[in-house]
Amino acid sequence: MKLSHVATAVALAVAGSAAMAGEVEVLHWWTSGGEAKSVGELKKIMQTKGNTWKDFAVAGGGGDNAMTVLKSRVVAGNPPAAAQIKGPAIQEWAAEGVLANLDPVAKAEKWDSLLPKVVADGMKYKGNYVAAPVNVHRVNWMWANEAVLKKSGVTGVPMTWDEFFAAADKIKKAGFIPVAHGGQNWQDFTTFESVVLGVGGPKFYQDALIKLDQKALTSPTMTKSLETFRKVKGYTDAASPGRDWNLATAMVIQEKAAFQFMGDWAKGEFTAAGKVPGKDYICAAAPGTANAYTFNVDSFAMFKLKDAAAQKAQADLAAAIMGTEFQEVFNLNKGSIPVRLNMDMAKFDDCAKLSSKDFVASSKAGTLLPSIAHGMAVKPAAEGAIKDAVSQFWNDDKISVADGVKSIAKAAAIQ
Ligand code: GAL
Repeated sequence: MKLSHVATAVALAVAGSAAMAGEVEVLHWWTSGGEAKSVGELKKIMQTKGNTWKDFAVAGGGGDNAMTVLKSRVVAGNPPAAAQIKGPAIQEWAAEGVLANLDPVAKAEKWDSLLPKVVADGMKYKGNYVAAPVNVHRVNWMWANEAVLKKSGVTGVPMTWDEFFAAADKIKKAGFIPVAHGGQNWQDFTTFESVVLGVGGPKFYQDALIKLDQKALTSPTMTKSLETFRKVKGYTDAASPGRDWNLATAMVIQEKAAFQFMGDWAKGEFTAAGKVPGKDYICAAAPGTANAYTFNVDSFAMFKLKDAAAQKAQADLAAAIMGTEFQEVFNLNKGSIPVRLNMDMAKFDDCAKLSSKDFVASSKAGTLLPSIAHGMAVKPAAEGAIKDAVSQFWNDDKISVADGVKSIAKAAAIQ
């Protein structure tokens, strides 16, 4: 073949693939070490399919910043192709009429038979899929540094709040920070929901934080929860206000602190740092919560776009998200477990295996509960109001427990 012919053939091939491939702009808030590695895997898969990945990362754990930026882009008539949207917020966005229908991919790939029904239902609006789930995070975890516990003379992981405070006293005496905390409202809220679950149990959590029942919210059990919550604060360090969650995790990794209350995206940080559960660190349910499971399912919704190549890229993204390759590699890095049923868990560590076992067991026992702090339990407006009231109480020791109870109940009433 003459050189000029080769050049033409190459040009045609390139043009051909370019016509098929599209660009996906993906909004997410995965910027910590473990998170960035995880989303990088999705980018790789999309690129292998010939698509162009346009990263739209908005820093800020928990996603509040990302949601603010998303709103302004949609209002400006310029939505991204896909955005990390989860829980009841999916329904609100769908009701605006801006989300694309993912049924063609979902039907072809048989999502209904690959997802737990409760998850599938949350991804649908009026019976049509509008979002694709990536994982299941467990929120009611407590992470611990084994060496710090040993050096402090703490034997065994505290299973109750009484045991926890006894351990925390020893840890403090030994010169370590008992609780690594990042003082941001969503992190305060994350700790709060685990305390409520541990103090009040699954039924109380359900009444107070899912049904937002005023009787539960103003009950003595809520008083006890707030007393316990405030007591936990006494074991955090003075530098905690404003700290990012992954920096708090780093304190546990680096043997500065003993515990962190955080969902298993924290495990993504341990993993990225080369740490091994059972050897370097411990994952255990937060005190009093071993029989329950607060879940947080991350998902991506796609926005209606006109361009055919962009639509094709969205379909590729949706299919990739639910594919076995992505579900495995992403969740190995992210700290979560696959949301797709019947996945092989052989490559996963003991924390993931425990999460998977407890997910099934709690689902059977009726103690599988949506995380309020991570947008799974109530509408965003109520969540935001309660989160603010919880944080105010956490930050201001002058607010009495009685007043804290009142203001949280009042915030919950705005639903
Ligand atoms: C959660 C999200 C997780 C994790 C965390 C910290 O809301 O569901 O995937 O990334 O925020 O950013």
